[in-house]
This record gives sequence, C-alpha cells and structure tokens, in this order.
Amino acid sequence: MGPIPQGGTVAVTGSAGFIGGWMVRLLLGKGYRVRACVRDVDDLTKTAFLRAMPGYAAGRLTLHSADLDEAGCFDEIFKGCHGVAHISHVSTYTDQDYVQKVYDHIINSVNLSQTVSRIVVTSSIAAVIGETDIQELVRRPVCDEDRYPDEGNPNRSAEGGQGYSMGKVLLEQAFSDAAEASGRWDAITCCPGDNIGPILAAHQKEAGPWQHNVETMLLGEYTVNVIGAYRNWWTVDVRDTAEAHIRMLESDDVKNGQRFIAWSTESRDVKDVCASIDRLLPELGFAGANIIDPLPEPVKEKEAVLRAVWGGCELRNDRIRNTLCMEFRPLDVSIRDCVESLLSVGHVKPKLKPDFELQA
Ligand SMILES: NC(=O)c1ccc[n+]([C@@H]2O[C@H](COP(=O)([O-])OP(=O)(O)OC[C@H]3O[C@@H](n4cnc5c(N)ncnc54)[C@H](OP(=O)(O)O)[C@@H]3O)[C@@H](O)[C@H]2O)c1
Repeated sequence: MGPIPQGGTVAVTGSAGFIGGWMVRLLLGKGYRVRACVRDVDDLTKTAFLRAMPGYAAGRLTLHSADLDEAGCFDEIFKGCHGVAHISHVSTYTDQDYVQKVYDHIINSVNLSQTVSRIVVTSSIAAVIGETDIQELVRRPVCDEDRYPDEGNPNRSAEGGQGYSMGKVLLEQAFSDAAEASGRWDAITCCPGDNIGPILAAHQKEAGPWQHNVETMLLGEYTVNVIGAYRNWWTVDVRDTAEAHIRMLESDDVKNGQRFIAWSTESRDVKDVCASIDRLLPELGFAGANIIDPLPEPVKEKEAVLRAVWGGCELRNDRIRNTLCMEFRPLDVSIRDCVESLLSVGHVKPKLKPDFELQA
C-alpha cells in the first residue's frame, strides 16, 4: 500500500490511446519500466509509435495484448508490477453490470499480483458533473472534487445517456472499496477535463473527442457537441493529464479513495477555439471552419440561458495544485501543439486561405 518506487514497473491499460500513449512516454522519460497494454500488439497502426519509443528495443518498455472483456487478461501482466494506471475505456458504458464485471476482473488481477501497491484509475469530469437537470448546476455551481452528479435524480439512467457518467462514478467506488478490502494497495482517481494537445500517432486523431474536433475544424467543418450543449471547452493538456497520473502514483501525500480533477480551469467557446488556430499559427493560413449547430430548435432557443448556466460554474483545481504541485499548460500551447501534430503526425490536410499551401 503506497507510492511506487522510483524506477519501478508500471502497467498502463489503454496505452495505444491519446492519454495512455503520453503516460507510457512520460513514464519512460522518468526512468520507469513500462508494460504497455493494448488490445492487439500486432496491430501496427496502433502500436508502431510505442515500438519506436526509447526503451522498447532495450526491453524497458514491453507490449502486451489484453482485451478487457476477457477475465484474467491482466493476471500475468500485473505480476511483478508496482503500479497500474488503468486508463483505457471499456467496450460500452450502456450496460452497468458489464462495466462492474470488467472492473471486478481488473481488481482480481491486481489482488493476484501481490506486488501492486497503487493503482490510478482514469475517471472523468463526467463523474463530477453529469446532470440530467441542468438547473442542478445553478444550485451547485462549484466544480471541485467533492462534487458528484445528482445521483438522486430519477431520470439518471444509462438508457437516458448517463451511462458514461455512471460508469465512471462506479469505477471510482469499485476500486477504492476493493483497495480498502485488500489492505495491500490503494486506488487514486484522476478526473480529467477536455484533453487537447499533441497526438503521438495518426490513429489518435479519430478519438478524443477534443483532438478529433480540432481535426474536423482544420478540415473546414465543425459540428457543435450535442451533449453538454453550449458548454465551453474545459480543457487540460494531455501531457498534463499524464503527468498528473504519474504524480498520483508517486505521491506520499494521497490516500485511498482520493480523487483529483485535472484541468487548467481555462474555459473557451468553440468559436474562439477555432479562431485561435489562425491567431496562433498565422503562417499556416488556416481558412477557418463552418460551425454547424445540429441541436433541435427548442434547445437552440435556450442557447443564452444554457450558456449562462455553464458560465456560472466555478472550475476548481486547488486540490491537485496543492497536493501534487501540478501546474497546467495554457490552452493556447495545447491548441498550437495539437494542430502541429495533426499536420505532421496525423497528415491532416487543412482548409487554407488562397495563396497558402502546406510546407512539403
Ligand atoms: N480524452 C478526453 O478528453 C478524456 C476526458 C476525460 C476522461 N477521459 C478518460 O480517459 C481515458 C482514456 O481516454 P483517451 O482519450 O485516451 O481514449 P482513447 O484515445 O480512445 O484510448 C482509449 C483506449 O481504450 C482502449 N480500449 C477500449 N476498449 C477496450 C477493451 N475492451 N479492451 C482493452 N482496451 C480497450 C483502446 O485500446 P486499443 O486502441 O488497443 O484498442 C484505446 O486505445 C478513458 O477512460 C476516458 O474515459 C478522457
């Protein structure tokens, strides 16, 4: 029970993903041994970037196939590990029994390992705010670690679109309860905001959704999010999210069941995010994007009201800054680096103004 030793061994689920990929890279940079878990190690479209990382050829980074849907898939991988970062998604959030089953078998593998002393689980701000009734945000506007979605609302259900939020609340509870029962390891939760920043491999531009949103902007068309209608982007740089996970694994000052929101508290409307691209990279000659609002008329009519509710929310990151000494990159840096990586790594061909062309 407690922090992992410097240079110890850490297993990372979801290593081919946006956050998981950065977690692997930063752990290697800090001298750890890393077991990167992906669904299929032979899928080179998703694993070539991991194989190219320093540490792979020498064996400090190893790759492992594990499909979360198969019980026991982590039994051998976690043996000998000091820490686990459980970052990956599950196959679906609509069936909460399935979600619980997956958590149970990851927990079994941690227990079986006899060596894991700490696990960090990746939750979401959807486990902080995930309201069926937006007025709940007016009643409780402070968005910090003590806030949870209104579990008492009778309309809160997976079928009603709350499955992701419910699955993340379940994740936090399931792992901290199991850790307490084991007495051998502890579970700390990271709730990241909207992740943006550089992709490490081309396939990551399709996920997100935030880096994918920037991709669609670059291509000239952006469709407004239906979920959380008219909410500003509440961002965190993906590199800061990964750094926060590592600090949670290393810290002496955290305790089982504690949760940390990882976001910079910067907030920006999507039109301003889009306009930022030309402001930050005038040399590119980005032509701008057509912003499409697919929301039904009754929702559109409430745009000003909804924006006022979101705007009244108070985003807090005191806990992560005070306990883990986290500093967050400015959103401008994340947008610039995201765009540059989408062009250079993702080979996105942006819509440009006349007389501009991409450097060959
Ligand atoms: N991105 C954000 O803004 C954001 C915000 C808040 C919270 N989060 C949380 O952060 C975590 C990572 O997000 P991300 O943006 O990095 O997602 P991502 O790029 O889509 O990566 C998620 C990974 O999950 C893995 N996965 C999905 N189903 C799996 C299964 N059945 N078995 C094994 N692996 C499976 C996939 O592995 P393969 O590629 O190997 O198939 C994928 O690489 C998620 O838990 C998400 O809820 C993300």
